Amino acid sequence: MRQSSLVVVANRLPIDDSVAPDGACEWRRSPGGLVSALLPLLRHTPATWVGWAGGTGPAPALPDVDGVRMHTVPLTADDLRDHYEGFANATLWPLYHDSVEQPEYHRSWWEAYQRVNQRFAEATADVAEPGAVVWVQDYHLQLVPGLLRELRPDLRIGFFLHVPFPPPELFMQLPRRAELLRGMLGADLIGFQRSQAAHNFAQLVAKVLDVPATDRRIAVDDRVVRIGAFPVSIDTAEMAALAARPDVADRAARLRHDLGSPEQVILSVDRMDYTKGIEQRLKAYSELIAHGHVKVRDTVLVQVAVPSRERVGQYQILRERVEREVGRINGEFGRVGEPAIHYLTQPFDRAELAALYRVADVMAVTPLRDGMNLVAKEYVAARVDDTGALLLSEFAGAAAELPQAYLVNPHDLEGLKQGLLAALRAGPDDLGARMRAMRAHLHRHDIRAWARSYLSALDDSGSLLTRLGAAG
Ligand code: ADP
Ligand code: F6P
Repeated sequence: MRQSSLVVVANRLPIDDSVAPDGACEWRRSPGGLVSALLPLLRHTPATWVGWAGGTGPAPALPDVDGVRMHTVPLTADDLRDHYEGFANATLWPLYHDSVEQPEYHRSWWEAYQRVNQRFAEATADVAEPGAVVWVQDYHLQLVPGLLRELRPDLRIGFFLHVPFPPPELFMQLPRRAELLRGMLGADLIGFQRSQAAHNFAQLVAKVLDVPATDRRIAVDDRVVRIGAFPVSIDTAEMAALAARPDVADRAARLRHDLGSPEQVILSVDRMDYTKGIEQRLKAYSELIAHGHVKVRDTVLVQVAVPSRERVGQYQILRERVEREVGRINGEFGRVGEPAIHYLTQPFDRAELAALYRVADVMAVTPLRDGMNLVAKEYVAARVDDTGALLLSEFAGAAAELPQAYLVNPHDLEGLKQGLLAALRAGPDDLGARMRAMRAHLHRHDIRAWARSYLSALDDSGSLLTRLGAAG
């Protein structure tokens, strides 16, 4: 077995199996913020990525992706149902997102979560060279740090949570709360998106495990576990360069023409997820049309909503409701050749996404709760001429870094409508000043700055940073 000095462990590999139009099996980039963040960072480094390839049955042998070795962990149909769709996405996901949908608790899901975490830990132990740095990602794998430490005490182990970490009053509902906290404490460094999350974690460790904890350090089993906030970011320069390409500018102009050359385009790009606030946004938009504040001929909404976790009941219900509402709004307010909403569920390549960002006068990112939201950052990075308005939920992690956005509370329908109107009506000087400040922030705080701050805290020798080319 070939071993690496850097191993990234994430539920999903950065590529997914999918079926090409001719029926052949092909590989394509997996959607989601985790892949968008980590893939540009690891490109051409001698790292191994341990993860799941998206199907069930025996693990397929995958090609390297941009020089990064893929090591597949197989899931059975039962694992998929009980670990991924069950404990990860019907227990932890809603619980960690303010319980905007009711979390479900089943003992068999917990057993699957333990079993799959054990399999990930064993696969990682096989591919990590002696003394390697292992970076475990996200809520699907919270037991891996502890399990891996038992198997391989020689490793330097980091854990990063991409989603929010809830306040004690919510987390305390979880039947196996102590085991989950102990699993995370197997790491040397636990990173969160926001300092409030680190604070929540410290409070819970003290309360549930009776271990003294501050928001920075926890002493456990003769070791010190450090915790802190490391807000994840994007490859800002790469998105800016893509958006500035002449073919992308041409594609943006073509898109505007195909949309009927409206005065203003509003864009939203989400995974189809109940945390993203899609229904609330549609309602706000439809009321603005109904009350004459927005005219369909002058303004269009493009809603991209790529289907996600499609076998989980709450996601199926959401998709039905969103599609019914889009149909209702188009039926009521659209005209032949002039829909009020252009609704797209396809995955797009990066150049097409950049063209969409370029064509959007207002980008509406209004999740009910979101760990970070990289779409908001991608939009800002793509606005290379300092135009455009970002409408952003206060409950997205990105809001802490982008206060120049039009910040809204997506639960407050009137506030949401006012925010959208303010963004649509803002003048170019105001927009330019806001966008310049946000772009400057994202060029300073890009994905390499994130890796630098996290990995220098994890690996004090600095050798890992040099290998990643992130030291500069
Ligand atoms: P999450 O991690 O919850 O999905 P983020 O906003 O942080 O949310 O990240 C979503 C990522 O997925 C972004 O990098 C975005 O560009 C990408 N993405 C979203 N929708 C699509 C789509 N239709 N096609 C391709 N990529 C998409
Ligand atoms: O950011 C949360 C997250 O679960 C990531 O781990 C992943 O990139 C994204 O959402 C997509 O989710 P899934 O892997 O379930 O399709």
